[in-house]
Amino acid sequence: MIFDGWTLSFLSSSLSRKKLEIFKRIIEKNGGKVQDIPACDLDMMVHFSQRPKHALLADPQCKDLHYLFEDCHRSTEAQIGEIVVNSTDWVSDSVKESKLKDLEKYRINTIRTKRSNHEIKDVGSLLDPSFNNSKYECFRPTPLDHANKGLVAELSKIAHHRYLTGNARSELSYNRAIAALKAYPRDVKSGEEAALIRGIGPKIVGLVEEYLETGRVEVAREVQNSEQLTVLDRFTRIHGVGPKIAQHWYDLGLKSLEDLEEAASQGIIKLQQDQIIGIKYYEDFQKPILRKEVEQILQIVQKHSTGMFGDSVLVEMTGGYRRGKLLSGDADILIHPVRKGAGKGDILEKLVKALKDAGYIKDILSISKSSSSGKGKAKKIDGLDLCFMAFKPTSDSPMHRVDLIVSSQEAYPFAQLGWTGSRQFERSIRLFCSRERGLTLTDHGLTMAGNGQEVGEFAEERDIFEFLGVPYQEPSKRNC
Ligand code: TTP
Ligand code: MG
Repeated sequence: MIFDGWTLSFLSSSLSRKKLEIFKRIIEKNGGKVQDIPACDLDMMVHFSQRPKHALLADPQCKDLHYLFEDCHRSTEAQIGEIVVNSTDWVSDSVKESKLKDLEKYRINTIRTKRSNHEIKDVGSLLDPSFNNSKYECFRPTPLDHANKGLVAELSKIAHHRYLTGNARSELSYNRAIAALKAYPRDVKSGEEAALIRGIGPKIVGLVEEYLETGRVEVAREVQNSEQLTVLDRFTRIHGVGPKIAQHWYDLGLKSLEDLEEAASQGIIKLQQDQIIGIKYYEDFQKPILRKEVEQILQIVQKHSTGMFGDSVLVEMTGGYRRGKLLSGDADILIHPVRKGAGKGDILEKLVKALKDAGYIKDILSISKSSSSGKGKAKKIDGLDLCFMAFKPTSDSPMHRVDLIVSSQEAYPFAQLGWTGSRQFERSIRLFCSRERGLTLTDHGLTMAGNGQEVGEFAEERDIFEFLGVPYQEPSKRNC
């Protein structure tokens, strides 16, 4: 077919709705795809017009292309680059002659756009030249091992304090600064240098200077010494307990796990199923899981999966283990069918039953089946099926937290990307999608922000990075 492998986008404001509909039908009938781009999203236009076999088309009669783009300039900061706009005549002529015409001959305009604010900026010689000073963490590699460990440890104490006290904005500021320091290729040597790094604001620059002078940060000591914080920390370590609930319990005068059980038995507080199990195995769940234990758990799940589904279902590690962490808080295991178009079916139920019957699963904290999501006529996207459990790999090992995550074959690359983490990495790539691409990225798909329509086709995780225009980061480089 004429447009096999081609994806075309229209500069919709140059065409009437009726004409646009006709073009869409013609292209799809001839094997091509149409990719909507939100009106005036320059950044997305630049990105797509640079992809192979992707063309941006406009009505050749539209004389005012520059005018259209000028409008966009005011609201958007686009990447530096060119947007090549070709004529819709290319489609009509190709169809008329039943062969693909040379696109180059149909170029009607080339528009240069200005520099994006998430690209590397020249901020002087103080910064390490190899550092990508992006405001999006996903744009730069962040290894586990880095050059600013002492400083990061001090700032992490303050970030944890902000988390416990429910100060999410301040917590995020610290986490962003921490992420930047983890990615910085050498140790920061001065406040001035730190001040040039995006994500490190004036307040944290002051703390960096203090650390460089004294080897410590006083605030990090102060926020550790209170009975209230000790209790909040104890409670938030229970699975399913966040800082809000922990504060509420503290305000009721509750301080220990025994207090919680007592209060629950008297009907003063209500504990959810995952919190009950979280308290039951509290000590065990605090123990980190070694890589070889994670591998042991994976093998057990793989053995049971193969026994039931053979090679039609794959089981692999995700989460912190995939990023190379030596010690994990839990084992995140991703399971997916391999046949093209295959759904999740009842893989999760069958696997959980088998592991329970074999005595590995001792308790279930929560289990959820996700139904399809997607708005209006948009294609329905299958979410993930999840089971969080207490798992005992051998009779003498501690009880470990294991998460089983089941995706459909289509959602697999998104599940892998969404569950590999780190949390800060996930946050940044999702933010980049919505702010710079007008897209919504979840752990099961990529959709247009406006109409929920699914975008693109992805065989593997790497394809998602490529599509978005984000440099691929190995899992071991997502430790921000
Ligand atoms: P976690 O298992 O909570 O985190 P982790 O594997 O990175 O670290 P740990 O050693 O403590 O287990 O979640 C796995 C990844 O899934 C996480 O890095 C990011 C993603 N995730 C979210 O983005 N949001 C969530 O609410 C959860 C539960 C996970
Ligand atoms: Mg984990």
